[in-house]
Amino acid sequence: MSTSREICLWERNEGRQLTLARLTVQLPPRLATKPLVSASTAAATRATATGTHTNKFDYEGFYNRELEKKHKDKSYRYFNNINRLAKEFPRAHMATKEDKVTVWCANDYLGMGRNSQVLKAMHETLDEYGAGAGGTRNISGHNKHAVELEQTIAKLHAQEAALVFSSCYVANDATLATLGSKMPDCVILSDSLNHASMIQGIRHSGARKVIFKHNDVQDLEEKLAALPLHVPKIIAFESVYSMCGSIGPIEEICDLAEKYGAITFLDEVHAVGMYGPHGAGVAEHLDYEAHVQGRPRGTIMDRIDIITGTLGKAYGCVGGYIAGSAKLVDTVRSLAPGFIFTTSLPPAVMAGARAAIEYQMEYQGDRRLQQLHTRAVKEALGERDIPVIPNPSHIVPILVGNAELAKQASDKLLQDHGIYVQSINYPTVPVGQERLRITPTPGHTKEYREELVNAIESIWTELGIKRTSEWAAEGGFIGVGQEDAVPEEPLWTDEQLGIAEVTKTLLQDAKAEQQLNAGAPLTGGLTERLLEREIQGLRSASAAA
Ligand SMILES: Cc1ncc(COP(=O)(O)O)c(C=O)c1O
Repeated sequence: MSTSREICLWERNEGRQLTLARLTVQLPPRLATKPLVSASTAAATRATATGTHTNKFDYEGFYNRELEKKHKDKSYRYFNNINRLAKEFPRAHMATKEDKVTVWCANDYLGMGRNSQVLKAMHETLDEYGAGAGGTRNISGHNKHAVELEQTIAKLHAQEAALVFSSCYVANDATLATLGSKMPDCVILSDSLNHASMIQGIRHSGARKVIFKHNDVQDLEEKLAALPLHVPKIIAFESVYSMCGSIGPIEEICDLAEKYGAITFLDEVHAVGMYGPHGAGVAEHLDYEAHVQGRPRGTIMDRIDIITGTLGKAYGCVGGYIAGSAKLVDTVRSLAPGFIFTTSLPPAVMAGARAAIEYQMEYQGDRRLQQLHTRAVKEALGERDIPVIPNPSHIVPILVGNAELAKQASDKLLQDHGIYVQSINYPTVPVGQERLRITPTPGHTKEYREELVNAIESIWTELGIKRTSEWAAEGGFIGVGQEDAVPEEPLWTDEQLGIAEVTKTLLQDAKAEQQLNAGAPLTGGLTERLLEREIQGLRSASAAA
């Protein structure tokens, strides 16, 4: 008797079942004699699928209607052809090589995408091991590059183990989906500004989702307290929220997790490489001295159950990861389809990412300079009454408050000034909070900064975009022009940047200079002077080397 059988794959579409495909499958002898679906069910389903509808589905019409909706609500995404140049960071060329622009919105926050040690590791690995990994981790794609990279990540976060994924989107989605679906009656508590990757992971888990107000520990506590103690709970949140630059209350959330029997899931995507003495992120930064001294036990970072990060932003490559206890990592490794059933990262990428992490674990110069450049940009924009949404991180969000204006400002920056800053519109930010998001790097020196600030100034005038004082006249909005707003101190303090003493001296000098000039305004802000000093120091160090 034949042991093969033709089967139909069905999918539901708005209540109707449609045939997706017919396949011939080999069946074990025991099953071959039994009908897969009863004859009457199959006949009924076929009748519904063909039904009385005589027209075929209009696929192009469907695409058109979906795109039309995006155009209508101004959320349609336009891509710019930007080719970042490794040898001219932060410059790029557009479609033609002659058409050059300065990039001010990339997430290659530290310029590691062109770091010589990263490139060397990648070139050598590429030549020796070729282009691709050859398969999934299970079949042919597991290698020394993956092992070494995961060891380095585990060491970075002082966790027992780590697991690398094709991106952090996949890491977040796969981990939350797996844990949320496998833990009985799991509830996932999610910050209202969480990234799409976490939102998708929660959705895919099928677990109950409870959203708490952004960074609001009181709201989170009320929601935790309403849940039974024995129920498994995951609190999912971020350290640096990339669109507004706010920072999650990590320690308070750890306290609540312990009190209510939850585990913590912290996304450090916009912080790894840039915060902490070794670049492990904000959790490391919060116990700066302990980590400088190599004492991670008992720190806030040590209390986090699951840390996720990317290799594609400050580390300049691509890929994502989770870090946590050996058992947690082994569980996700063993159960998560998003990890198991996909080709692993190319060896050269893993070698490059590892080189980037190790470089940033040893060297603080890039993140110091990034912080100083960020301060200088925020200061310069503030002096021009340009509405920067206040925050303690390296993100510089400029409030526009209108989708069309934000796009026009971005287009004008590119077309008239050769500056690339993508506009951020709904659904990435709520309607009415549209903005330009600027990300200074160590490569954005004074000349670039002046060019940017002058360009923004002229566009704000040309398009009549509201300035800080105008927002203030209306009572302020999301921290802009809000008189009662608590000042946002940078997370990197002057002491941590090693500029506290110099700042004092420079302030005294500045005051003396001002007195000498009969109160005339100072040329160059304080940060500008600090930067000049920092750059002088770097020059002397490289001359001495
Ligand atoms: C907060 C956050 N988490 C996760 C991701 C996804 O990281 P990746 O780019 O590695 O997929 C992003 C990407 O922008 C993000 O902003």
